[in-house]
Amino acid sequence: MAMTDSLDGYGALVIGGGGGFGSAFAERLTRDGAAVTLMGRTADTLDAAAKRISALHPDAPDVRWVTGDGCNPLDVDAAAHSVDAAPLRICITTVGGGTIRPLLALRTDTLRADFDRNVVSAFLAIRHAAPVIASAGGGSIVCTSTSAGGFSFPHMPSYAVTKAALEALVRVAADELGHLGVRVNTVRPGLVDTGGAAPTQVIADPEQLATVRREKPLARLGTLDDISEGVRYLAGPESSWVTGIALPIEGGNHLRRAPDLEPVARRICGDEDIDDAHGGVIARSVREAELDGRQSARKR
Ligand SMILES: NC(=O)c1ccc[n+]([C@@H]2O[C@H](COP(=O)([O-])OP(=O)(O)OC[C@H]3O[C@@H](n4cnc5c(N)ncnc54)[C@H](OP(=O)(O)O)[C@@H]3O)[C@@H](O)[C@H]2O)c1
Repeated sequence: MAMTDSLDGYGALVIGGGGGFGSAFAERLTRDGAAVTLMGRTADTLDAAAKRISALHPDAPDVRWVTGDGCNPLDVDAAAHSVDAAPLRICITTVGGGTIRPLLALRTDTLRADFDRNVVSAFLAIRHAAPVIASAGGGSIVCTSTSAGGFSFPHMPSYAVTKAALEALVRVAADELGHLGVRVNTVRPGLVDTGGAAPTQVIADPEQLATVRREKPLARLGTLDDISEGVRYLAGPESSWVTGIALPIEGGNHLRRAPDLEPVARRICGDEDIDDAHGGVIARSVREAELDGRQSARKR
């Protein structure tokens, strides 16, 4: 797909920029002339991604990188202010991920950690990029949700809950920041082979993969290009009258329902936890971690 406008003169920060989606989104923006800075926690990964993208687009501004934790306010603030090859007009955040565990087998600290990586990271990206983008004359923030953010997703409750919270954050941020010329949107991708942990666990199992395809009218897996084109649209001036949306790019999965993830959940959690959860009792692993310990402490 060809977007109509160039991104020459646009500075862009991609948080999680060394990852599967992050580096693909960064490559797509670089292709159209943006001056991109990647942020992540691992220097080697960022350096490799920056070199790969710059080699693909020798006429575009060099891709830069900074290390930092997307859940740390100081790091995110420093990253937002580090973009100086061109004024910051675009911020993409991809930090996040999902836990495959049904509700009765889900530990409280896992839910909290998923809230941090999926919601707090996006909150910080918006809070620290928006003032810089506004002072540059306005621009766009694009977050990364998931099809699980749009409806019930059995066996992945913490992913569904925290990505739905991210989508709520996007709506409020778009509403509050629109008058500053800052647009805030999110893509809602379906399953793509990015090499990330959760997708790999599903893709490795042909039977499980078939259940994913069955719930998509366009019955194939997504590609990095499918999602990158949506991000490019939301990031650039072509979408200048669009804010506060979650754009599903998932083969029409939202028209049907979540795939049945029981087989992969059994592999990850073990039959005992899944049988407990399906049988209506709190899984043994959760009881041991949170409840049995408290009971023995009370006895002392
Ligand atoms: N792949 C899919 O099928 C799919 C579908 C729907 C939605 N998504 C969403 O897409 C996003 C990216 O997924 P992906 O598949 O591209 O995963 P990925 O390949 O694992 O990439 C994630 C990147 O984020 C970085 N990162 C993680 N925690 C960070 C933190 N606290 N601060 C800064 N950087 C951090 C990681 O690098 P370091 O560890 O080196 O920091 C990594 O480069 C996630 O939000 C995920 O929920 C994925």
